[in-house]
Amino acid sequence: MNWRIPLSDIDLGPEEENAVLDVIRSRWLTMGSVTQNFEKAISDYLHIKHAVAVANGTAALHLACLAIGIGPGDEVIVPSLTFVATANAIRYTGATPVFADITSFNDLNINPLSIENLITDKTRAIIVVHFGGYACDMPRMNAIASKNNIAIIEDAAHAIGSELDGRKLGTWGKVGCFSFFSNKNLTTGEGGMLVTDDDDIAEKLCLLRSHGMTTLTWDRHKGHAWTYDVVELGYNYRIDEIKASLSLVQLSKLEGNNEKRRQLTKRYRDLLREIAPTITIPFTNHPGLSASHIMPIILPTGVNRFDFMEYMKSQGIQTSIHYPPIHKFTAYEISNRTIEPKLPLTNDVSKREVTLPLYPTLQLIEVEIIVHHIQEFQRIYARE
Ligand SMILES: Cc1ncc(COP(=O)(O)O)c(C=O)c1O
Repeated sequence: MNWRIPLSDIDLGPEEENAVLDVIRSRWLTMGSVTQNFEKAISDYLHIKHAVAVANGTAALHLACLAIGIGPGDEVIVPSLTFVATANAIRYTGATPVFADITSFNDLNINPLSIENLITDKTRAIIVVHFGGYACDMPRMNAIASKNNIAIIEDAAHAIGSELDGRKLGTWGKVGCFSFFSNKNLTTGEGGMLVTDDDDIAEKLCLLRSHGMTTLTWDRHKGHAWTYDVVELGYNYRIDEIKASLSLVQLSKLEGNNEKRRQLTKRYRDLLREIAPTITIPFTNHPGLSASHIMPIILPTGVNRFDFMEYMKSQGIQTSIHYPPIHKFTAYEISNRTIEPKLPLTNDVSKREVTLPLYPTLQLIEVEIIVHHIQEFQRIYARE
């Protein structure tokens, strides 16, 4: 489909092309100096001790669970209103995801009260997701974690560059996980990163991402080693140098592009408040600085979401849904039966949420066009 206004778009230019060419000309294609520079740049940017690059955000979440020691018989509390990868990562370890509700129609993040009701003696961790780049209540999450002696993993896939109380998201919990998938604020096509201040966890992550081997091909190429031991059952979750090469250019654009996203979000909010006051706009007056990854709205009850999205499509405007809740997926029916989730807000919001286009190269005039069509839809709908 040739969208007049797509849901998302990426800001790639000649700098990224040159970075990729440099790698190809260097003749070293897998984890090497470019990946190391990427890791250093991310740890400097986030002000955190260790950054470990991996193949994608899902691998990051899986390794975070393993490095914390999560395994069969354990429970991990997680929101259901997130991408399925967040919960899949728990299941890869043999542990059980336990779904918590969101906070409210204004705050789509995991609800601390819901978490506290779900903690049992099997709970080992909470994975919080900063929905759309908007911060979870991290001081409260950390208080719950220390009171119950459990770990916090941050799924910061939407939140590169977001802050709370001047501290970057991803650096509040035991381990932070980022995705650099092709629709993310910083993209390498596929890619991910784990960040932590914990030396032991960082060491474990480095082992697990490459088969538990004590040295890498790169170390041997550099003459630092000629053999290796295998000390863990690890994975091939390595990233390659071509992808890593995009990251440094992308990082240099991140703050500017996040600011553009915030300005576009503000314009949406101002216009929508005027013309469609019955639409709920989540995260209004939310604390912290958001990376504004997506633009969610919640339709009033009684409005048919399918009709709305089809109408927008007929105008060439792509919309989406964040998210179909995980506990309703067929592949999650078994865990549903084990732990019956009662998630009234998640169930309600997930039927009414629509995501509008948002990306740094979107123009203010295009936001006006989108909102104009929302107004048109309302007019037609009111007539029927
Ligand atoms: C909230 C969330 N968690 C995890 C992931 C998984 O990241 P990836 O696609 O890089 O594996 C995504 C990415 O789409 C995401 O949006």
